[in-house]
Amino acid sequence: MSTAKSERFLRACRGQPVDRTPVWLMRQAGRYLPEYRATRAQVPGFLDLCQNPELACEVTLQPLRRFDLDAAILFSDILTVPHAMGLELSFVDGEGPVFANPVRTTQDIQRLHQPDPEQELRYVMDAVRLIRHELAGRVPLIGFAGSPWTLACYMIEGRGSRDFQHAKTWLYSDPESLQQLLDRLVAALIGYLRAQAAAGAQALMLFDTWGGVLSTPAYRHFSLAPMQRVIAGLRASAEAAPLPIILFSKGSGNWLEAVAQSGADVVGLDWNTEIDQARERLGAKISVQGNLDPMALYGHPTLLRAEIERILTANGSRPGHIFNLGHGITPQTPISNVEILVETVHAWKNSHNEYGEY
Ligand code: CP3
Repeated sequence: MSTAKSERFLRACRGQPVDRTPVWLMRQAGRYLPEYRATRAQVPGFLDLCQNPELACEVTLQPLRRFDLDAAILFSDILTVPHAMGLELSFVDGEGPVFANPVRTTQDIQRLHQPDPEQELRYVMDAVRLIRHELAGRVPLIGFAGSPWTLACYMIEGRGSRDFQHAKTWLYSDPESLQQLLDRLVAALIGYLRAQAAAGAQALMLFDTWGGVLSTPAYRHFSLAPMQRVIAGLRASAEAAPLPIILFSKGSGNWLEAVAQSGADVVGLDWNTEIDQARERLGAKISVQGNLDPMALYGHPTLLRAEIERILTANGSRPGHIFNLGHGITPQTPISNVEILVETVHAWKNSHNEYGEY
């Protein structure tokens, strides 16, 4: 059986058989590519790149010109939503994102604005429309947002953090008002992702980068439950209902049975989690995405190939596997190893690929 390249990724999201395992990489557009660095140098800051639909489209397409990837991901950032809600955002070189006015009190929550995605975030929707046009159906376009909990972490801390002291102090001293912040984010994210679907995104992904820093009950309450509400809101909207939804909750290997209840079609796995065990725990209805350690791309090509094949073998003949990294690709990654990755995944023939429908 042969699958049209434009269909591989979406079919795998839905658990349908495909001829080759589809592959794309988290952060596939980024600093490891010299052409990205050249485009990035045309504007003063990273946010300027996100806010310019032509340049955002250009960097979205760059990795697809080099590698035979099966999906494109919108070039943007999860922090555009808090920015549109009124937080002043800057990206400081070597330090990452910084909010000048973090959310520290209930008054700060009241002051947050509910963004209209076609107003304050119109630049994202314009980028989605332009990318869809330029892709001309070759591969599908993934839209995305941060999870409510992960966005709340950045909004409260004002920057990245090792221990999330401010966010967790709030969680353990005034959980009701933290919930108000999450409620606002749930509403903003449903509107934002619906608008991406209306603008042309063909799958939607939630990045829950910091879900794994929570205790088990806190994960269920403050990370998973708000994501379930976002997903339910999308399912209830005409634009987003037909789109596959991918949930990547880093460090969630402990809670896969709970993640299986999220409503997502695809669960992103980090590299701590073994795919064969994950698939048993998630059940046959849920597809998986992952899960090569991004640092394996720094290794020797022979060991890299073996590691990729180990992951493909662990998935075995089950349909519904999208090959990806267990987290984003990092800036010093050798391009030659990314080429090897994509070739190795596409060259792989398991019994399910070889014999087609069964
Ligand atoms: O995957 C893609 O190619 C799409 C683009 C994308 C970016 N950020 C571009 C980016 C996506 C999907 C994101 C999501 C994102 N942003 C997450 C969730 C995924 C994850 O990695 O956990 C998070 C936590 C952020 C917040 C963020 N943005 C951080 C922590 C940083 C600094 C990282 C660093 O390495 O400096 C960013 C900036 C950022 N977002 C860059 C890119 C390519 C680098 C900025 C630059 O070019 O200088």
